[in-house]
Amino acid sequence: MTVLAVLGGQRRFAENVPFVRPSVPPLESVTSRLAPSYDAGLLTNGPLVRELEAAVAQRLGVRHVVAVANCTAGLMLAIRALDVQGDALLPSFTFSASAHAIAWNALRPRFAECDPASMQLDLDDAKGRLDSASLLVATHVFGAPCRPDAVEDLAASAGIPVVFDAAHAFGATHDGRAVGTFGDVEVFSLTPTKPLVAGEGGLVATNRDDVAGSVRIGRDYANPGNYDTRFVGLNARMSELHAAVALESLARFDVDLARRRAIAQRYRDALSSVPGVRLQQVPAGDLSTYKDFTIAIDAGSFGIDRDALVIALRAEGVDTRCYFDPPVHRQYAYRDVEADLPVTRAVASQVVSLPIYPRLSDETVDAIAQVIADVGTHGADVARAITAV
Ligand SMILES: Cc1ncc(COP(=O)(O)O)c(C=O)c1O
Repeated sequence: MTVLAVLGGQRRFAENVPFVRPSVPPLESVTSRLAPSYDAGLLTNGPLVRELEAAVAQRLGVRHVVAVANCTAGLMLAIRALDVQGDALLPSFTFSASAHAIAWNALRPRFAECDPASMQLDLDDAKGRLDSASLLVATHVFGAPCRPDAVEDLAASAGIPVVFDAAHAFGATHDGRAVGTFGDVEVFSLTPTKPLVAGEGGLVATNRDDVAGSVRIGRDYANPGNYDTRFVGLNARMSELHAAVALESLARFDVDLARRRAIAQRYRDALSSVPGVRLQQVPAGDLSTYKDFTIAIDAGSFGIDRDALVIALRAEGVDTRCYFDPPVHRQYAYRDVEADLPVTRAVASQVVSLPIYPRLSDETVDAIAQVIADVGTHGADVARAITAV
C-alpha cells in the first residue's frame, strides 16, 4: 500500500488537485456570440440577456426567467417582490447569502435544523418553528432537490410564500420536474463554482407574473421607465458579456452535467463501503447537479475526524472545502439571532466537499477516494503524525 504523505510517504498528486476548475466555453465561441451586441454598443441588459432568459424559461418550463447580476441580488429582489414583513425561516446549513437576502429586506432570519442524511432543511423541525414566520426559504443543498413539493406543502399549510435558494441546482430535477418550477420563486447562481457559469450572474425563475414584474424593474433601481422608482431597488442587471458566457455554457451544459453525475457515482461506488464516511442522501427519482460532492465523517467509526482528513488530503495535494462550516447561525453576522441547533452544528463539523468538475479524470477520483479510505485505515497513525507537527 502507498504510504500516506502525512505519514512521510510521497504525495499522491505531484500537481495540486484544485477544488474547482470552472467548465468555461471556448473563448472564440463567447466572442462571436457577443460580437453583435458589442458592435451595436449594447453592453448590458440587451438582446443576449433576453435570449438567455427565453432559453432558460423554455428549458425549465417556467413562465418567467429574469436574469440578474448574481444570485444574492436575485434572492434580495425575489424576497422584496413577495412584500412580506417579520420573520423568515430558513435552514442554518446553507450559504450565508440565503440569510443575507432576508436580513437586507429587514426581515428577521430564524434558523431551522438540517436532516443529517440528506443535509437538507429538516421539515419536521421547520414545522415546529414556523409559527408567526411570514416566509419560508429553503436551499437545494449541493444541487440535490430539497423535497421541494413537501416544502411547498409546509409553506401552504402556514399560508406563507416560499423561496428556493437554487444557487447550486440548475439542472436538478425532482420526480422528473425541473428545479426552477417550484415555490413562489427560485433563484440560481452562475458563478464559476456552479454547474452553469456566466462569471457572475443569477437567474430568477417564477410562474408568478407579479413577482417577475417586480424583479424585472427591481434589478433596474425599480425604475419602471420614467425614473419614478416604485420601491428601493438595486442595480442588479446582467451584462451582455455575462449573458454570452452563460449562453455558450448552456450549449454544452448537458454534457458537463452528465460528467459531474458520472464522477459523483464513481465517488459513491468507491466510498460507500468506507466505515465512517456518510454520503449525502439523494432521494430515488431525484437528480442532483452535484455542484458539490460532500461527505460527512463520523470520527468514531472512521478513526479520525474531518479536520484531520482535510489535513491529510492537503498533504497529498488535494484541495477541499468544508461547506457549510460554520453554519449560518454560528457566523458573527448572525450572533444576535437565538438558535439552538445541535444537529446542524454536528453535521457542519463533519462535512468535507471533494473536488468535482467535468475535467476531473476517473483516475484522480479513484485516487482521492483511495486516500480517504487509507486515512481511515490509518486513523491513529495520522492523528499522531498531525499532533506531532
Ligand atoms: C446556497 C447559495 N446561495 C446563494 C449563493 C450566492 O450566489 P452568488 O454568488 O451568485 O450571489 C451561493 C454562492 O455560492 C450559494 O452557495
